[in-house]
This record gives sequence, structure tokens and C-alpha cells, in this order.
Amino acid sequence: MTNNKNTITTAAGAPVGDNQNSITAGHRGPTLIQDFHLLEKLAHFNRERIPERVVHAKGAGAHGYFEVTNDEISNYTKADFLSEAGKRTDMFIRFSTVAGESGSADTVRDPRGFSIKFYTEEGNYDLVGNNTPIFFVRDAIKFPDFIHTQKRDPQTHLKDPNMVWDFWSLSPESLHQITYLHGDRGIPATFRHMNGYGSHTFKWVNDKGESFWVKYHFISEQGMKALDADLAEKLAGENPDYHTEDLFNAIDKKDFPAWKLYVQIMPFEDAKTYRFDPFDVTKVWSKKDYPRIEVGRMVLNRNPENYFAEVEQAAFSPGQFVPGIEASPDKMLQGRLFAYSDAHRYRLGANHHQIPVNRPINEVNNYQRDGAMRVDSNGGSSPVYEPNSVNGPAEDLTQKISPFEVYGEADSVAYDSEDHYTQAGDLYRLMSADEKDRLINAFVGHMEPVERDEIKLRQIEHFYKADPEWGERIAQGLGLAVPQSVK
Ligand code: HEM
Repeated sequence: MTNNKNTITTAAGAPVGDNQNSITAGHRGPTLIQDFHLLEKLAHFNRERIPERVVHAKGAGAHGYFEVTNDEISNYTKADFLSEAGKRTDMFIRFSTVAGESGSADTVRDPRGFSIKFYTEEGNYDLVGNNTPIFFVRDAIKFPDFIHTQKRDPQTHLKDPNMVWDFWSLSPESLHQITYLHGDRGIPATFRHMNGYGSHTFKWVNDKGESFWVKYHFISEQGMKALDADLAEKLAGENPDYHTEDLFNAIDKKDFPAWKLYVQIMPFEDAKTYRFDPFDVTKVWSKKDYPRIEVGRMVLNRNPENYFAEVEQAAFSPGQFVPGIEASPDKMLQGRLFAYSDAHRYRLGANHHQIPVNRPINEVNNYQRDGAMRVDSNGGSSPVYEPNSVNGPAEDLTQKISPFEVYGEADSVAYDSEDHYTQAGDLYRLMSADEKDRLINAFVGHMEPVERDEIKLRQIEHFYKADPEWGERIAQGLGLAVPQSVK
């Protein structure tokens, strides 16, 4: 018998004679251990799951391209993929919710992840952002505690508003982000109807060696649309994969979703004197101070062929930059530079860069060798050390990061601004009367089950400090009074 593509084989390629009946000792006898195909099949099945992402476990992905539309961008960065209008780069995106497990519902109130991998000729550039321009906390040291409050109670294994509001009310830097979260952006209509942000400040460096601070904004060409909270709750039961399905179907029908990328550019020196710390990820930069400049357009035009291979195994790391794009001193970003690749080594292994969805399009040259699942030629017979005098790849000094001065004593240093209220209050005041009503409802609904009034009152103080009307309305909704101490 020929072993053609229609014949089932073992993993070693040998044809399988029976895939319906295990080998047993006669009709009624026990199964024989010599049924290698059965053992292989059961054993492989047991190993189908890899650890899910510790956050952002539920997601959907798509392939597409990014096209530069503005020639002027090369004034600010030497990144080759942004060098001239018309330049196209293939990319892969993954959208996600944050707190839920891999099988959880899409339509919950949660930020949405917005992770992009640009396959540039200078290596992969990953931008791992959210659909909000800011974040809940601003120092990486607080991230695991914050996430624990969003996950499950250690005893009941239930979501617990007590720990959520205890933490938020004791971490007032979260006020701005929780306002986005309980507003319309907290439940987008679909992944296509939301904007994306790099959230952190990054550094761009041009070919003259000049540096700029930059923030990324992807604006949806489909428009921003929210899902009604009651409908979202219904959908969570009826179709927990609602957003995943919408994205797949839109691309399948060739209704390709697109986003325009804009950046805000801050001259390097401005960071020293700007009215707040521009590296604080709980703050947005005023668009009056730094207007948005168009960069290009991202179009999603191809569904993954295989979810596990391309979406589950995708590894996005905020530390993966290309020449012309660098980190800023943002304390959250600094922690993330470590956390993601570490997660990938745990979740996918030390050689995760070789998985096709993660593999750069250019040649990879280094002296890292071996490790589990090394599936390329492992460097063949080339040298395994550097420096060497046998013509192995060497560093390129023109690609060093652009230096910048830092001063100070090594210490556990807090951000210098404790103003968590101005921007959160501005966001509240910017909302229409209807959106304010929905916001108050969402907050009151979420806070009502909190058992201790002390927690609710602490949080009401924050709302009140951002806008007295806001504090009064939440207090009223919860049947409490704004504490006199804050008035
Ligand atoms: C996923 C850690 C802050 C957006 C993850 C993962 C880890 C992580 C470990 C799972 C990675 C994987 O298994 O592939 C952290 C830490 C943070 C932080 C330690 C703070 C210090 C943020 C912020 C944003 C963000 C500020 C957005 C601005 C995302 C997204 C994903 C993710 C979008 C999903 C990536 C994907 O689609 O595969 N984070 N995170 N995270 N995080 Fe964070």
C-alpha cells in the first residue's frame, strides 16, 4: 500500500491500519500495550494544551499589512518599515480580553488587548497595547497584585468585587483607567469597532541620532461603537465567542477592517519640563500640546488557517524593537520588557522564535544554540562563540541604542505626581449626559455587592475629588453619603 496524503499515519509516518478498533486480545479481551498507534494517540491528546496566557488568555487573531501614508515620519524615526509613503509591511494582530480564562465570554466589561507584530526587514517589531491609552497602575511592581484582584478568590474560586474595589480604592492612580473601563469603551461592539493604543511612551530615533518621545494611536475606520451592557450580558450566555466570530466572519466576507495609525510626538527635551511626567502610563498627553500626526494604515485581510498554530502560539513582546524605536523610562514598560519573553519561555519554550507565526522574515544570526524543540538547523557547523576569527556574525556598532543621561540615587522611587483626579475628571466631564448615566450605572452595579462600606466610601472620595457631582451621584446610587472629610 502506498502512503499517500489520504492515509492516516503515525507521527513517524508509518501507515495506520485501523483507526476505529484498538488491538485487543480477541473479541472480549483486554487492550494490548502493543497498540502503538492507540498509545501515541492518547498520549498526544493529553498534551494538547499548553499553559494559557496568565492574562489576555481569550483572544482572536488576524493577518494583514501596514502601509505608510506619510513621508514625513522618517524625520522622527529611522525605522526602515516607516521610511517612506507606500511602504508595506506584513503584520499579525491579536485582540483579547484581559481577566478571563481562555474559554471565557468575549462581551465582558474589560480592557481589550491590541497586540501587533510587524514582520519588518530589520526584525520583528511588537507593539503590545490595549484599546485604552492608559493603564490602571504605573509601576510594574503592582501588576501581579492588580491582576490577582481581577482573577478569582483563592477560596471560593469566584470573581470578587470586594478585592477589586479594595485594591482600586487604595490605588487611586487607577481612577482614570477605571473611568474608561466603566464607560462605553469597556464593552466594544466588536474588535473592529475600537481604537488601539501603544499606551506607553516610546522613544523614536532618526537617522541624525535625534530622539523624540512618541505615543501611538490606532483609530478604527469602522468607527468606535459600544455594546449595550444588557445585550452584552445576554450575549455572554448565548454566544460567548461573539467578538471572535465577528472578526473571522468579517475577514471571511472580505469586509477587511482597517485602522489609521497616528502618533503624538514630544520633542526630547520637553519631557524634562512637561507639566506632568510624560512616562506615567496613567496619563494621556494633551492633543493640543502634541497633535496627532498620521503615519499609515493597517488592514486585516487574512484569517489564520489554524488557531493554535498562529494565535495560541503567537508571542508578542514589548521588548522586541527595531532600530529607530526604543524603550522609555516608563516603570510599567520597563517591567514588561522582562515579563513577556519570560512568559514565552515558560509557555512556548526557549525556541519560541522559531514557531512560524513568531519567526522573523530576515535571517536570524546569533550564538544561542540547542534547547527543547530547536527545529531549525541549530546553526549547523558555524561557530558557537563570539568574538571569533572565523568570520562569524559580529555586532554592528551603528545599531547601538541612542544614549541618554540619567541621574539619581538608587531607591524605591514613586512617581512625583499624585494628581489622579484632573484627567479622570476631565474624561467624566467630556461624556454626554447619556454616557454619564451609563457610567454611573456601571459603577454602581459593580460596587453594590462590595460588603464593606468603608471600601465604597474610600472610592466615593476619589470620584468626588475628580468631580463633586460624580462623587455625589455614585454615593446616592449606593445609598451612602459623601464623607464630610472630603468636602
Ligand atoms: C499579555 C504581563 C502590562 C497588554 C501579558 C502576558 C504577561 C503580561 C505575562 C502574557 C504573555 C504571554 O503569555 O504571551 C504584564 C506585566 C505588565 C503588563 C508584568 C506590567 C508591568 C500591560 C499593559 C498593557 C498590556 C500596560 C497594555 C498597554 C497586554 C496584552 C497582552 C498581554 C495586549 C496579550 C498579548 C497577546 O495577545 O498575546 N501581559 N502586562 N499589558 N498584555 Fe500585559
